[in-house]
Amino acid sequence: MNYRMLGKTGWKVSELGHGMWGMGSWTGSDDKESLNALHRSVELGVNFFDTAWVYGNGRSEKLLGSLLKAYHNKRLYIATKIPPKSFRYPMKPEYKLNDEYPSDHLVEYVQRSLSNLGLEKLDLVLLHGWDDVWADDESWQKAVMDLKRKGLIQAFGISIDRWEPENAIKAIQTGFIDVVEVIYNIFDQAPEDKLFPICKEFNVGVIARVPFDEGTLTGSLTLNSHWPVGDWRNKYFNPENLLESVKRAKELEKKMPPDMSLPEMALRFILSNTDVSTTIPGMRKVKNVDGNVKAVKNGSLKKELISELRNHRWDRKPNPSSG
Ligand SMILES: NC(=O)c1ccc[n+]([C@@H]2O[C@H](COP(=O)([O-])OP(=O)(O)OC[C@H]3O[C@@H](n4cnc5c(N)ncnc54)[C@H](OP(=O)(O)O)[C@@H]3O)[C@@H](O)[C@H]2O)c1
Repeated sequence: MNYRMLGKTGWKVSELGHGMWGMGSWTGSDDKESLNALHRSVELGVNFFDTAWVYGNGRSEKLLGSLLKAYHNKRLYIATKIPPKSFRYPMKPEYKLNDEYPSDHLVEYVQRSLSNLGLEKLDLVLLHGWDDVWADDESWQKAVMDLKRKGLIQAFGISIDRWEPENAIKAIQTGFIDVVEVIYNIFDQAPEDKLFPICKEFNVGVIARVPFDEGTLTGSLTLNSHWPVGDWRNKYFNPENLLESVKRAKELEKKMPPDMSLPEMALRFILSNTDVSTTIPGMRKVKNVDGNVKAVKNGSLKKELISELRNHRWDRKPNPSSG
């Protein structure tokens, strides 16, 4: 496993991290299977785990807590997220900062996460959604300083809403942001335009999330794909998006070198960019951990393939299904 610096935190995190949304909130999750996958990750050198209180209202955090307990002698890095007080996603410029992230709410959710994880201090806390109209409001900046001064968190960041990669640039420019989490994959290349250069300038760590576009870039979707009632993916992969996603995945498969799978090409595309610190596929199964660790060990893609994949950029606008 290779390790990369997570911006100004100074932590060397595994370039493959472990995403933990699915095991908290998606249908078909089995805690024992998820724990096995988490253990396999640690055995194979993964040291970065991404969770959030909202992933099953603490379910995902508690799974991570039990992993941390089992490996208390190993330095594992964790990121968790504070939900907006309104639980509305995504954030909008007309929302008020004080309705979404008042300082007492930040403290309350840091305490909840500490308790779920069995920790006294959180490595990294991200706001689970953001609008940059709030960047210059000193109340969040003061709240972050307080959380750090009290020793409750070590680093602070923003998880940027889907398909709005530039909607945290002003916050980064305040100097209060240590890390951002953003969607970046073969389709969603837009963070390269403005976000990554700013992150570089301010030495902000980059977590590339949703490396498989929620499943499209694993190549497993078909026009008949559907999930049990209540699974978020039914909304995301509505008929229109499913049709387009399957079509685009098929086009990509034509570009795959003979000895490479689509998930491997997807992960290696992301990690070919040195602006990325880590990428965090959702992994609920040991076989996916094994496959993804093996894939990233093959390193950067060839330049010619990266240039070819540039043509598969897919710029999308947030919509009611993209949440
Ligand atoms: N707003 C936010 O902050 C936010 C939003 C979304 C995601 N995230 C974070 O980013 C992480 C990653 O995103 P995601 O989980 O939504 O989507 P994703 O990583 O793009 O895709 C996850 C899907 O890929 C499958 N998969 C993983 N490795 C595979 C492989 N080698 N072969 C075939 N299938 C494979 C998973 O299988 P299984 O179903 O079997 O696990 C799962 O269905 C999340 O888990 C979460 O930690 C954050």
